[in-house]
Amino acid sequence: VDVNFHVERVLGNLFLLRVDDARVRFFEALWEIPEGVTYNAYLLTTEEGAVLFDGWKQEFSDAFVEALQRLIDPRDIRAVVTHHTEPDHSGTTGKLAEVAPRALFVGHPIAGRILRSHFGVERFKPLMDGEALELGGYRIRAVHTPWLHWPDSIVTSIEGEGVLLTCDVFGSYSIPPLFDDQADLAKLSRSIRKYIITVIGHYIDWIPKGIEKVSKAVGRPRIIAPGHGVVYRSNPQWVVEEYLRVASGQPVKGKVVLTGLTMYGNVGKAMETVREEMEANGWRAVYYGFNDKERPPISEVLTDASDAELLIIGTPVYEAQPHPIIDHLIKLIAAKLPHRKSMPILILASYGWSPGATGKHVSELLIKQGFSRVMIIDFEGAQLKPSIEDELQALIAR
Ligand code: FEO
Repeated sequence: VDVNFHVERVLGNLFLLRVDDARVRFFEALWEIPEGVTYNAYLLTTEEGAVLFDGWKQEFSDAFVEALQRLIDPRDIRAVVTHHTEPDHSGTTGKLAEVAPRALFVGHPIAGRILRSHFGVERFKPLMDGEALELGGYRIRAVHTPWLHWPDSIVTSIEGEGVLLTCDVFGSYSIPPLFDDQADLAKLSRSIRKYIITVIGHYIDWIPKGIEKVSKAVGRPRIIAPGHGVVYRSNPQWVVEEYLRVASGQPVKGKVVLTGLTMYGNVGKAMETVREEMEANGWRAVYYGFNDKERPPISEVLTDASDAELLIIGTPVYEAQPHPIIDHLIKLIAAKLPHRKSMPILILASYGWSPGATGKHVSELLIKQGFSRVMIIDFEGAQLKPSIEDELQALIAR
C-alpha cells in the first residue's frame, strides 16, 4: 500500500517528517474526518547525533524508518522527545526502539509511564517543566502544557532558533500543504476549529492557560511546528489567535444550528418549519438532518455548534428517551462544548404516548453538566405548534 510521506527542511538542521493519513475515516475511532489528518515528527541533526521529536501512527512504522534514513542512520539518534504519548504520535516507538538502540527517550514523567506500559521502553529520562535537554550545541527547553491534550503533554522550544514544537497544540485536521504560506487559510481555519472541538474540546479551558504559560516561558516563536497540519513559518501568530478565538467560545451573531433526527418524517417536518421561521426572522441557519437515509457527521455538527448563538435539537421519543443517536449527540455536546454552557439550547421532542420523558432525560444530561439555558418543547406526534417564537424569546432572555 502506498504511503505518502514528506521529508522537508524547516530551517537549518531541523527537518519535518510528515505522513499523510488519508486512510483514517474516524479519528479516535469516533470523529468523521474524510479530509484525513497528518502526523508530523521532526528531526534535529547535530554534531553529537540527532534529536527526534515524536513519531507517527504505528501502521506507518516502516515508512517512518525510511523517512529517517533519508536524513541519517537511525542508530545516530541520541534522544527522542515525546511531547505526548497518544499513539497517533508515539505508535512508531516500538519500531524506533529497535532501529535506534542508543536513543534515550525524554518527556514528562507520565509519558515515561505510558511509554513503558505501551511499548516496553526502559531508557527514559524525565524532562520536567522548565528543564532543558542539551545536545550538540542545542538547548531544547520543555514547558509542561497539561491537558493539551493529555496530562503528559509538553511543548519544546529550540533556544536561539525561535522554533516551538507543539505536538497536538496548534494542530488541525486535513492534509494541507506543508507550510502556512502555501495553505488556504479559510479552509485551514475550519480544520483547526473541528480539530480543537473534537479532540481538545473537553479541556478547552486549558488552551488560553497553556498559551499564556508558554509565551511567558519561551517568548513569541518565529516558527510553530505542530504534530498535525501545516508548519507555521510565515505567520505563527495567526494560529495562536485562531486557537484563542475558538477557545473563547465567542458566538457568531445570528447563527443558529438546527439538528434533528426523524424516523418517519414528523420531526423532520417540524424542523423544516422551524428552520423557515428562523430564517424569516433573520437567523442564519445551519441544518443537519438525521433520517433513515442520511447521517451527517457529528464532528461537523459540533464544529458548527461551537460558535452558534443558538442550538435547536429535534428528536423523536425512543423507548421513553431521546433517540439513541440524539442521546449520543447530546452527550458529546455536554462533553465537548464546556465553554458554551451559557448557549441557549432548545429541544423539540416529539412523543407518541408519554409526554415528558425525553425532556427529563435531556435535562439530566445537559443541566447536570452545567448548561444553564436549556428549554424543552414536547409535542405530540406531528403537532408542533405553528410558531416557537415565544419560547425562543423566553429562552434567549434567560
Ligand atoms: Fe495527536 Fe492527542 O494526539
